[in-house]
Amino acid sequence: MTSVMLLENIHESATSRLHEAGLEVERRSGALTGAPLRDVLASHDLIGIRSATHLTADDIRSTPRLTSIGCFCIGTSQVDLQAATAAGMPVFNAPFSNTRSVAELVVSEAVMLLRRIPEKNMLAHTGKWAKGAAGAVEARGKTLAIVGYGNIGSQVGVLAEAMGMRVVYYDIQPKLSLGSARAEGALVDAVAHADVITLHVPATSRTRYMIDAEILAACKRGAMLINASRGTVVDIAALAQALRSGQIGGAAIDVFPTEPKTNNDPFVSELQNLPNVLLTPHIGGSTEEAQENIGIEVAAKLANFHATGSTIGAVNFPEVDPGPLQSPARLLNVHSNAPGALAALNTLLAREGINITGQHLQTRNDTGYVVTDIDKPPSAELEQALRSHPGVVRIRVIRRQDAPDSAA
Ligand code: NAI
Repeated sequence: MTSVMLLENIHESATSRLHEAGLEVERRSGALTGAPLRDVLASHDLIGIRSATHLTADDIRSTPRLTSIGCFCIGTSQVDLQAATAAGMPVFNAPFSNTRSVAELVVSEAVMLLRRIPEKNMLAHTGKWAKGAAGAVEARGKTLAIVGYGNIGSQVGVLAEAMGMRVVYYDIQPKLSLGSARAEGALVDAVAHADVITLHVPATSRTRYMIDAEILAACKRGAMLINASRGTVVDIAALAQALRSGQIGGAAIDVFPTEPKTNNDPFVSELQNLPNVLLTPHIGGSTEEAQENIGIEVAAKLANFHATGSTIGAVNFPEVDPGPLQSPARLLNVHSNAPGALAALNTLLAREGINITGQHLQTRNDTGYVVTDIDKPPSAELEQALRSHPGVVRIRVIRRQDAPDSAA
């Protein structure tokens, strides 16, 4: 029976979804490394991890049984994707499951900052009563600048407009504006008149320290800055300076250039103890709902790949969606993307008198992936011949339950 190992306390929603697909599921609460990890990889068909389990090229190369990897999170940098592709293994993640959680936090932080709640809260905790309206304003009618108008950024815009904010955004790609949001052609123009600036870009060489002393100086005096994207996007020293001088009126920061690895490690930041600064421990997307959705989304992708060979949503692989299996068998073939691979496969099938009822091919860089529906399952000899053909990385056969045994 096909078995799945879920590490790192992945939400129970994943187990239910995999059980529904008829898969056997084992669970462990922590991450694994070294020999225990290798043992798990060698004895399961599918594995689910979160961010603490690292799958190196050596780990991946030593796992002929494993067919696919599910990252039950957003990022996939904990997996050597190149090695996974070279081994013919699609890697899946959950890019959208926590979008709403981040967007809700950001919009509520905008309100908190505009009302100067962090400093009033800090004073109240130390026995001081700071009742007064000075400097506290409504979000309604204020301008929100969104830097990076992708999944999260655009969702933030929709929520902010519902509260009556004016939304401008800056993105390096042309985007469809939702609601009345207005695109700006340059970062400096987006931030110049904004009361609140929120960052939703990925960590790239272009976004590294994109919010530096120069951009902070170009902001409207007293503007609020929110960063729930990646820690490298903001020059923290420059931000601390801008907060001290009043150029920036407040900040909500969820991500940091260096973050503690565990909840037991100390957290140190130049932004600590500054008034009107909200610091959160990278929890923008951390909600019960997001975890549940991530469990369902990645488990569904793993189950679908197992049952049909679909690689839709894989981060490292040619995307093929062959749909449910109608023919007696389906052959999944991962190969080096070189001329003649498809012809060689079809010739081998024809030699055994197997008729092709459908075929889907996609390539991505050096990898080709072809899913072939056939009118009878291949014999063990043919499977072996397909496997040992030059350029073939991986072969898997999916048999319809009621199909005859083989072509022999
Ligand atoms: P996305 O890929 O949907 O959107 C990113 C947008 O940024 C795209 O529209 C892209 O064109 C744009 N972009 C890229 N480089 C740019 C540049 N130099 N200048 C302007 N725009 C640029 O990503 P998504 O899902 O919206 O995530 C955004 C960020 O949020 C990512 O960094 C992600 O890691 C982070 N994130 C943080 C979480 C948290 O817990 N704080 C949870 C989930 C995501």
